[in-house]
Amino acid sequence: MNILVAAAEFAPLAKVGGLADVVAALVRQWSALGHRVLVVLPKYRAIDVGTYGFQPTDLVVAVPIGWWTEYARLWLGTLPQSGVRICLLENADYYDREGIYGGPEGYADNDRRYLFLSRALFEVAHLLGFSPDIVHGHDYHTALAMPLLKLIYRWQPRFYKTAGVLTIHNIAFQGITSPERVLPLLGVPWDEFYPGSPWEFHGAVNFLKLGILYADKIATVSPSYAWEIRTTSLGEGLQGVLNLRGADLVGILNGVDYSEWNPERDRYIPVPYSVQFLAGKQLNKRRLLSEWAGLGEMEVQRDVPLIGMVSRLTEQKGIDLLYHALEGIVTQFGVRFALLGSGANRYEDFFRYLASRYSQQVFVQFGYNEALAHKIIAASDYLLMPSRYEPCGLTQMYALRYGTIPIVRAVGGLRDTVRQYDPTTGEGWGFLFEAYTPEALWGAVEYALSFYAVVPHWERLRRNAMSCDFSARRSAEQYLQLFEWALEKVRAERT
Ligand code: ADP
Ligand code: GLC
Repeated sequence: MNILVAAAEFAPLAKVGGLADVVAALVRQWSALGHRVLVVLPKYRAIDVGTYGFQPTDLVVAVPIGWWTEYARLWLGTLPQSGVRICLLENADYYDREGIYGGPEGYADNDRRYLFLSRALFEVAHLLGFSPDIVHGHDYHTALAMPLLKLIYRWQPRFYKTAGVLTIHNIAFQGITSPERVLPLLGVPWDEFYPGSPWEFHGAVNFLKLGILYADKIATVSPSYAWEIRTTSLGEGLQGVLNLRGADLVGILNGVDYSEWNPERDRYIPVPYSVQFLAGKQLNKRRLLSEWAGLGEMEVQRDVPLIGMVSRLTEQKGIDLLYHALEGIVTQFGVRFALLGSGANRYEDFFRYLASRYSQQVFVQFGYNEALAHKIIAASDYLLMPSRYEPCGLTQMYALRYGTIPIVRAVGGLRDTVRQYDPTTGEGWGFLFEAYTPEALWGAVEYALSFYAVVPHWERLRRNAMSCDFSARRSAEQYLQLFEWALEKVRAERT
């Protein structure tokens, strides 16, 4: 199959969260399975063009926007050990900026930046002579590719048989914007904008709604999230539209790229380890505590549970629960807590306070740091993810491979990947809590800690965790099946 992928993030070139990891892992797998893949991304300033040997070309793509045309120069590179071609769009006005999205509020013109990407991807395919069977969009950033395919590009022979598939990684981000701004950019006449039309959403334009309505198939990143977003409580206003498309909506659990996340071959951790050599994990813990946390030798030697967290600091991640529970957990249970995160100032201030008050127990670092993320996941005994909602979550799957026991809220992909440990049967590999309350979180932490280093439970838990297999291969194969269904649908419509 020829698969054209466009996204706002791609690991390791431009990463804010799991979206980047998932897109990169999927295309690598499809290519390994013999499919031809072309990825189109913005050339953000932060991208190190040395990675993947990107070269500027003389090719300039002309993108129709409204009644005029905008341009981007193409940079081409190849994903190592695969045939995946990656095309970066160089447009200084849109993408040559400090950040990717521009802080918690986002850049004011993100609608326009991603509208450009969603339209440019077709022109890139055309210029490079790539005829896609599938156009795969991710999140609101490239959701507009779905209506553009159905309303404009399908009339070009190259895209006549192309099917559109949209993956929703997080329904909280929808690309809601003003019709005065974007309808002219898209060339959509005002009489298409009326209550209940695809273009209208409570008086605004909603990119994700358009993507959902015009995609041939819609995927989201875990089976639980696929049903959660069809409900009022987690649908963020799009539950009606999703129910309308319910027959075409599936949950495909994200997978892990185990070549990046494997304690036996992790270039970021000081001591490689495996299920047969768990003493290595202990050594990583000691190194983190002495080198990063700055603890003295006596403290480092004390056997105290370490709870880790690597997370964007947003409401989604359940930080509000920690406001009410973490200080008590640290004081009452005497545990240590390590956090790497970045996000809203108010959350950072909270952790700063704890780290200064409990300087021998709470260690925090803010900002994005790939190496430290690996080190914390490897060194911790437990990984905490008390998410309010979680479409899939990758960090808990990484933690499992590192024998780090997840304590998570039973929601979305966390529910689908973490199984409660049962001390009577020895089955399961983590601890879950249901209610979004500090008490429920507290209870789960207390229960989880009761197994810390208790033989044989602790051994069993770690062994079970490390043998979980959430490989990206399975997820890539499920997408290929979905692509087949999408193509069947297009074929049926054309006959
Ligand atoms: P989300 O995409 O909602 O942030 P996921 O669990 O799916 O959540 O993915 C988060 C990804 O981002 C993981 O790869 C995690 O290791 C990484 N990550 C999160 N915060 C940081 C950070 N501050 N530094 C480095 N990596 C981070
Ligand atoms: C989003 C979600 C996260 C998911 C990731 C990759 O960022 O918040 O749960 O794992 O996308 O799909």
